[in-house]
Amino acid sequence: MRKTIRAGLVGTAAAALLVSSFTLNASAAPEHTAARGKPKPPAADTLGGLGQRAGLRIGTAVDMDALAADAPYRARAAGEFTSVTPENVMKWEVVEPRRGTYDWSAADALVDFARSNGQLVRGHTLLWHNQLPGWLTDGDFTADELRALLRKHITDQASHFKGRIWQWDVVNEAFNDDGTLRDSIWLRTLGPGYIADAFRWAHRADPRAKLYINDYNIEGVNAKSTALYDLVTELRAQGVPVDGVGIQGHLSVQYNAPHDIAANMKRFDDLGLETAITEADVRVPMPVDSTDQEAQAEGYDVLLRGCLLTRHCTDFTVWGFTDRYSWVPETFEGEGAANLLDENYGPKPAYQALTEDLKLAAGRK
Ligand code: G3I
Repeated sequence: MRKTIRAGLVGTAAAALLVSSFTLNASAAPEHTAARGKPKPPAADTLGGLGQRAGLRIGTAVDMDALAADAPYRARAAGEFTSVTPENVMKWEVVEPRRGTYDWSAADALVDFARSNGQLVRGHTLLWHNQLPGWLTDGDFTADELRALLRKHITDQASHFKGRIWQWDVVNEAFNDDGTLRDSIWLRTLGPGYIADAFRWAHRADPRAKLYINDYNIEGVNAKSTALYDLVTELRAQGVPVDGVGIQGHLSVQYNAPHDIAANMKRFDDLGLETAITEADVRVPMPVDSTDQEAQAEGYDVLLRGCLLTRHCTDFTVWGFTDRYSWVPETFEGEGAANLLDENYGPKPAYQALTEDLKLAAGRK
């Protein structure tokens, strides 16, 4: 049964309401629905609850250490969102730390957590140039050996989670900002064909999972998003099972928000692809001031509206939801406070902005 949902959308404050309708596949494949039994639906005033009324899943990346140690974190991760993404525990270095020795425990715990809360899982990520185990990066493999290793890894991981992953980030960050393919162990040794291979192997292992290619700095129309558009056009023409494009959405208030995001996402939508905002956060220079917080709210607002304006945008996921746990400060010196909630789980203007967008998109204030 498909449910068609009309979404009333907000342009700018003074703009007329834009209305678009899109279809939400309300009956995801049985394996992709929640665990047996009836998990509680998200409360109506949460992002997940408001998203349901707007026909969109709202998700978060989950830090498994915080989930185990921090009860308020666990409660918010369980109650606020309708999808989850493992921040780190499905990456190659974690699931196969030694060649041929798999450790699925942390990833299985995330999937079990999601199923107990009626949440869908975005698998992240089958193939990346980063967070690879040392035995792989230090190995001196021929092209045939590396291709066999990659095929086994993708097949084993997608098979292990078969029926439990809604969307896979099959290939993560394959492009450079200038639109060329990233120089990685994969491109150097296997050539550009590794991308099509990865999707074919993942599809063979789990035909029901939706398969995405995921990248950052592709929010607007630029050399990188256009190169990605050209690639997925070619892959689809070759019959490669690519279902969607993940737009990470890592923004900074020091740069303009991607106001052309809807035009960009429409290109993929017109190809018949799904899209998703997969890793939204908006970092600010520390210490934070109110102007930065307003600019941060605009960044999140632009990302969500881009998704709401795109017929087959399936999910809006934030890359963590509280400043208490964030990858940003260790990565961008002098920047931080990138999330919707502060270190004490207090909502920021960005959180309010998203709730307003979702209420309007659901056709009610
Ligand atoms: O697991 C080790 C631990 O054993 C060790 O004690 C500790 C201190 O060195 O490091 C731990 O590994 C860290 C890992 O996160 C798990 O916590 C790595 O140092 C750290 O670099 C790694 O950072 C992750 C980063 O990807 C790696 O590039 C971030 O948490 C994660 O949020 C970030 O996520 C990526 C997405 O996967 C792809 N898109 C970009 C996004 C941000 O970089």
